[in-house]
Amino acid sequence: MVKKTMIISIANNKGGTGKTTTAVNLGAALAENNQRILLVDLDPQGHLSINLGVDIDNLERTIYDVLLNPKSSQIDQVIISELSNDCDLIPANIDLSGATVELMNEISRETILKRALLPVKDEYDFILVDCPPNLGLLTLNALTAADLVIVPVQTEYLAMRSIKELWSIINKVKEHTNPELSMRLLCTMFDRRTIHGRDVISELREVFGEQVFDTVITRTIKFADASVAAEPILSFAPKSEAAEQYRNLAEEVLSYVKETKSER
Ligand SMILES: Nc1ncnc2c1ncn2[C@@H]1O[C@H](COP(=O)(O)OP(=O)(O)O)[C@@H](O)[C@H]1O
Ligand SMILES: [Mg+2]
Repeated sequence: MVKKTMIISIANNKGGTGKTTTAVNLGAALAENNQRILLVDLDPQGHLSINLGVDIDNLERTIYDVLLNPKSSQIDQVIISELSNDCDLIPANIDLSGATVELMNEISRETILKRALLPVKDEYDFILVDCPPNLGLLTLNALTAADLVIVPVQTEYLAMRSIKELWSIINKVKEHTNPELSMRLLCTMFDRRTIHGRDVISELREVFGEQVFDTVITRTIKFADASVAAEPILSFAPKSEAAEQYRNLAEEVLSYVKETKSER
């Protein structure tokens, strides 16, 4: 059977829901399973790159060059190899903030990322794209390129309401540019001490059913400490509950891949 690369975009227009943390740690957990991983930082704030110890102010080339000149930028030279989480990375910095305007007049502007990734796609088992906290052209590109979008949702009051807009964009993308796109919700920052946390999870499961991962990521200060150390939680605190949860998430993603492959 031909092995197919799965592109997973991690999106939520709300900031601080755990997108970047999920990119770092799901990437690390999949790499522990001998999967070849490329991470793509698609946020002009460059948090994913910073979290992996990259000095984003001194980069010769970034995702910006890849998107603006896919032919001449030679994507393989933009890739930084084997970071602290055993993943490769296409980094981003503030240069990317101009891209939305510059790409506005391109032909088929929603498929730029998808096309740009083609030359390296086959070298990886998974490509994880970390989206910015908005629903602009960059996120649209990520959703159009993806086989699966993971939506990290903070497990708190109004969680359902917060994903309404994103849900409608995902459906539009399915209608127009990417009919095969699947979605999974990931409950993050779950706090056992609050009463309503469990209610929020049940409500999400009621509405979205199988589209909610069984794995729930609990709230812990360890993630902030791991960020400071520029390490994934899996190596910073390998035996922690948080590391275990991201390993469980990787297991779920791997079985999802098996399921979708047998369906083909
Ligand atoms: N499960 C968690 N528990 C506690 N803090 C977390 C958790 N996940 C992420 N964080 C912290 O919350 C902040 C926002 O997370 P981040 O992944 O950067 O969100 P986003 O990329 O969606 O903006 C970061 O400081 C991160 O370290
Ligand atoms: Mg982020």
